[in-house]
Amino acid sequence: MAGVTEIRVLTDEAQFRAHTSVFRRAMHWGPPTDEQWQVVLPSYEPDRVLAAFDGDEMIGTTQSYGSSLVVPGGALVPHAAISRVGVRADYTRRGVLTALMREQLSTLPDPVATLRASEGRIYGRFGYGLAGRWRTVEVDANRAVIAGEMTGRVRMIDQDTADKLLPELHEAVGRTRPGQIGRWAGWWARARDRKSEAENSVTVVHSGPDGDDDGFLTYKASGYEDFKHRMSIEDFEWANDDAWRDLWIYASRLDLVDKIEIDVALDEPVSWLFEDPRVVRTKDVFDEIWLRLVDVPRMLQARTYGSADPVVIELRDRLLPANDGRYRVSPGGVERVEEQADITMPVDLLGAVYFGDTTFSQLAATKRIAGTRLSDADALFAVPQKPYCGTFF
Ligand SMILES: CC(C)(COP(=O)(O)OP(=O)(O)OC[C@H]1O[C@@H](n2cnc3c(N)ncnc32)[C@H](O)[C@@H]1OP(=O)(O)O)[C@@H](O)C(=O)NCCC(=O)NCCS
Repeated sequence: MAGVTEIRVLTDEAQFRAHTSVFRRAMHWGPPTDEQWQVVLPSYEPDRVLAAFDGDEMIGTTQSYGSSLVVPGGALVPHAAISRVGVRADYTRRGVLTALMREQLSTLPDPVATLRASEGRIYGRFGYGLAGRWRTVEVDANRAVIAGEMTGRVRMIDQDTADKLLPELHEAVGRTRPGQIGRWAGWWARARDRKSEAENSVTVVHSGPDGDDDGFLTYKASGYEDFKHRMSIEDFEWANDDAWRDLWIYASRLDLVDKIEIDVALDEPVSWLFEDPRVVRTKDVFDEIWLRLVDVPRMLQARTYGSADPVVIELRDRLLPANDGRYRVSPGGVERVEEQADITMPVDLLGAVYFGDTTFSQLAATKRIAGTRLSDADALFAVPQKPYCGTFF
């Protein structure tokens, strides 16, 4: 590979800061100020930071945050959240990212990785599949009527209380839907900073009739004009339907708010809350979760399956050939077999069907995979809930 000498694991703060600067430059942003750096530093975790070097010059970056991920069926698996992927503009298209990805994937301690992609064509070749999407909706608050009253209570908390309570609440209620992830210390540090910059960020917490906290909402209102504000809901988690509905009642009845904007799961039944379902308008559907099955046998075992006759999937993984092979998937679990395959597919597309956001039949219709017994495979991988993460990184 022309120019690239080495991929190294970074270990000290000066290197971490250079790493952030190289990444930010690739995104067309300037280096961090001293103040910004203090916020970014906690997101650097030992042994999880890689850089490509040409001699002594850092030319490419990637890193991961140690996290956890909910898979279909509810199990929580160790998870790497991949971030700060960038290559210096004068070194692109020479294989630098390929070298970084190869090293990162072959050394990750976790069986699965996810990321958010700046462009849709970058990560498929490295085995990441588009596994989950979100829907951006806008609610016309003036016409948004939810019949009935709250079953619990919503209380506003100050920033210091939120800083302490939200990480605990996220652990308790924010890792139930497939696709949701554990948040790391650096994530909370960035979130606190963003909230302190936006002086009108507000957090409310919901508690049920028993008094236990079981949901929260963080939002800000902006764009004041003629006593009308646009409310952006930035963080919204709940443990049960009552908490979800009560927090929506709170949001929809706020004074001086004209529009509410929020990203939700594709199947969140938000329109059904309102007497007039047309108050909810979908503005956009966008990709959220790019999923890389790193340890395929372990990840196939980690999730549950629907009922159907077993299907044998032959998998190809260019970067991690230990995953190559045939897997017999049945309602009771998964085993490696030698028998003839029903479906052949690359690892990125197994990632795409893993959470049930897309199906084997849909991929076959587009000629992305080939095989038979597609409806059995669809039934095995079918999920009651669409994936959604809700944690941006
Ligand atoms: C995206 C980026 C990291 C790619 O780095 P790179 O070192 O140029 O990638 P590589 O040379 O290893 O490319 C490997 C392959 O992917 C292709 N590829 C890489 N980036 C691509 C892109 N943005 N669009 C389409 N194809 C791309 C290359 O053409 C190459 O294909 P080939 O193997 O058929 O020749 C780099 O362009 C970059 O830093 N972009 C700006 C920052 C950014 O978007 N980062 C990602 C944040 S999620």
